[in-house]
Amino acid sequence: MSLSKCRIIDLPKISDPRGNLTFIEGGRHIPFEIKRVYYLYDVPGGAERGGHAHKNLHQLIIAMSGSFDVILNDGKQQKRFHLNRSYFGLYICPMIWRELDNFSSGSVSMVLASNFYDAADYYRNFDEFVQAKQS
Ligand code: TYD
Repeated sequence: MSLSKCRIIDLPKISDPRGNLTFIEGGRHIPFEIKRVYYLYDVPGGAERGGHAHKNLHQLIIAMSGSFDVILNDGKQQKRFHLNRSYFGLYICPMIWRELDNFSSGSVSMVLASNFYDAADYYRNFDEFVQAKQS
């Protein structure tokens, strides 16, 4: 799984003077079925989140409010994405190291995930992750 598989997905947007609406259907707008949703909020200034990779999990990250950066690394290459619109989602395939930083005040990061929470699905050590990528 390489960085080239990770990409910004342009989500459907129903523009309306009363307020815009975006929807996401698992397996249709994103390349996995959704089994879990979680979100980060009340993130203090200067905080960094993430710092891990998943063995099998697919995820989509959306800036529901405000903005933040997601740095992806496949063990060879690194790329920084700035998320600041609730109709753009960053798709992250399995075996990609990610870090989140540069959170704006009041930002909310929503994550759609392909599976339930499983601590055994994580690499939390970057060197172990790189070794696993090479083997
Ligand atoms: P973690 O995935 O390390 O957060 P982040 O990548 O955003 O920095 O999770 C932080 C803690 O929350 C960790 O103890 C595991 C727990 N957690 C759950 O119990 N369920 C979940 O769905 C998630 C994402 C985390």
